[in-house]
Amino acid sequence: MTDCSRNPVVAEYARLAGGYDAKWSFYIQATTRETLARLVLRPQDRVLDIGCGTGALLQRLCAIHPAPQLCGVDPVFEMLAMARRKLSSAVDLRQGWAERLPFADAQFDVVVSCSVFHYLYRPDKALAEIHRVLRPGGRLVITDWCGDYVMCRLLDRYLKLTGRTHGQVYRAQEHLERVESAGFATADVHQYKINWLWGLITARFARTRVQSI
Ligand SMILES: C[S@@+](CC[C@H](N)C(=O)[O-])C[C@H]1O[C@@H](n2cnc3c(N)ncnc32)[C@H](O)[C@@H]1O
Repeated sequence: MTDCSRNPVVAEYARLAGGYDAKWSFYIQATTRETLARLVLRPQDRVLDIGCGTGALLQRLCAIHPAPQLCGVDPVFEMLAMARRKLSSAVDLRQGWAERLPFADAQFDVVVSCSVFHYLYRPDKALAEIHRVLRPGGRLVITDWCGDYVMCRLLDRYLKLTGRTHGQVYRAQEHLERVESAGFATADVHQYKINWLWGLITARFARTRVQSI
């Protein structure tokens, strides 16, 4: 079991894990479907899903990609336990944070992250870590709430006032500038709504230069 006593994200998701898939079924289906639609993989690509949660995206990936090439990382033991139940044992699941990835340098061809960036208090640190674990020319796909949509801005304000786990919802331009300054080139950007509440961004990047800190 995870030690819930210190980190609010861990405490929150340890509590939610058992009912997470059922409660957020529409949202998970929509966000992972949209992310997967923009993920172009070669059979040999090694793929890391950061903040993999209960493994919804990895489960979809297993249907189209060799399981031994797939890895997921999440800080919450209980979320990973739910993922483990639905995934092949060949998928490498690890407990860890985006800001301190438990992988050696240049291990992955593709990093993907779905609905995680708005939790990050230190997105620059996470992006430096993503840059480190990606091979040169590696690709990054990020899906998250998009602050260009008014409902997401309102949600951001509300969660900042009431939630202990919320970080920041970014507008598309802020998001792209942040990722580009971490050593990535933007390939393309899609902004779309999945219902009346959630407006999302899925952006694709390529790892370019050596990162300057
Ligand atoms: C909204 S859930 C999304 C889960 C999954 N990506 C999906 O699409 O179903 C957010 C996930 O991000 C994880 N998370 C939060 N902060 C994180 C961090 N700093 N590093 C890595 N994962 C984090 C949480 O534990 C949780 O599993």
